[in-house]
Amino acid sequence: MRVLGIESSCDETAVAVYDETDGLLSHRLYSQVAMHRAYGGVVPELASRDHVRRLLPLVREALAAAQSPRESIDGVAYTAGPGLIGALLVGAGFATALGLAWAKPAIGIHHLEGHLLAPLLEPKPPDFPFLALLVSGGHTQLVDVAALGDYRILGETLDDAAGEAFDKTAKLLGLPYPGGAALATLAEGGRSGQFTFPRPMLDRPGLDFSFSGLKTAALVALRGRDLQGQVRADVARGFEEAVVETLAEKCRRALVQTGHRRLVIAGGVGANRRLRERLAAVVLDLNAEVYFPRTEFCTDNGAMIALAGCMRLAAGMLHGLGMGARANWELGAIGV
Ligand code: KG4
Ligand code: ZN
Repeated sequence: MRVLGIESSCDETAVAVYDETDGLLSHRLYSQVAMHRAYGGVVPELASRDHVRRLLPLVREALAAAQSPRESIDGVAYTAGPGLIGALLVGAGFATALGLAWAKPAIGIHHLEGHLLAPLLEPKPPDFPFLALLVSGGHTQLVDVAALGDYRILGETLDDAAGEAFDKTAKLLGLPYPGGAALATLAEGGRSGQFTFPRPMLDRPGLDFSFSGLKTAALVALRGRDLQGQVRADVARGFEEAVVETLAEKCRRALVQTGHRRLVIAGGVGANRRLRERLAAVVLDLNAEVYFPRTEFCTDNGAMIALAGCMRLAAGMLHGLGMGARANWELGAIGV
């Protein structure tokens, strides 16, 4: 079983070929970040148009690199949502057309399902069931993963996503969009304890998050200060510590509450080094294990969509033709 995967939900055009037996055969990605940077964020119409330009050459490249002629492909998986509707429609239209032309199924994949399965691309993949922390630019969720397609949301952010909080605070610090990774780099040179930010929602029971207050706290901390000096790095450090500490403590509580022994981290913020270190300590304490995708598969990529498509196709779990694209789509409601 071999699947071509296509990701186009936001500002990355990404394509991959995944084989049930041989694993990941190839993956290609084109990032639009440079194009959107001038506007300080993603411009949806520009994103859609660029996906149109990039998709076909990337598919050709990925198929060639995988030495996979079209006859070897059993299905075409694409991100069906959630995401920017125009961007999603480019991938959905392309995959559906390819599926019809090749007489192979087009498989609509939930973007977050792709993210939470991404650690299964690694040499030592986790078995089901597991607890997943999804931390991306648009989502922050703790998910009880019983099996493929069986997802229960245990907690989520009430306002900003963790990645969004990183990006907004990075902007306050004068870093270019998207600033999450750059803020983390800046924080390396910052001193711990110079600024102590609130740890939102830790004083309450439950597994929900709230990150919107942190950027305000950063704004207050920076008010009237020189943005060039050590202070900037110290604020970055304080902010990062607050987010990491909050995420780690909620993961600890969720592991205790569910009794899961496996924790999966997925989504762009999963690339954060301090978060990885902190979670490694949490699971050690609980005699559990943590699984991360390699850094390049934390952020959006085609490999996770090809993998999810292959798993669904192998299990006969397709959402059906006419799946199309959905800007909003709850992970807990996707079904099998
Ligand atoms: O999963 P992703 O690629 O896109 C969405 O589906 O949203 O996540 C992107 C997010 C951005 O907010 C970015 O700033 C953040 O992940 N990010 C990081 C790091 N690398 C990427 N945040 C903190 N530390 C990092 N090293
Ligand atoms: Zn994503």
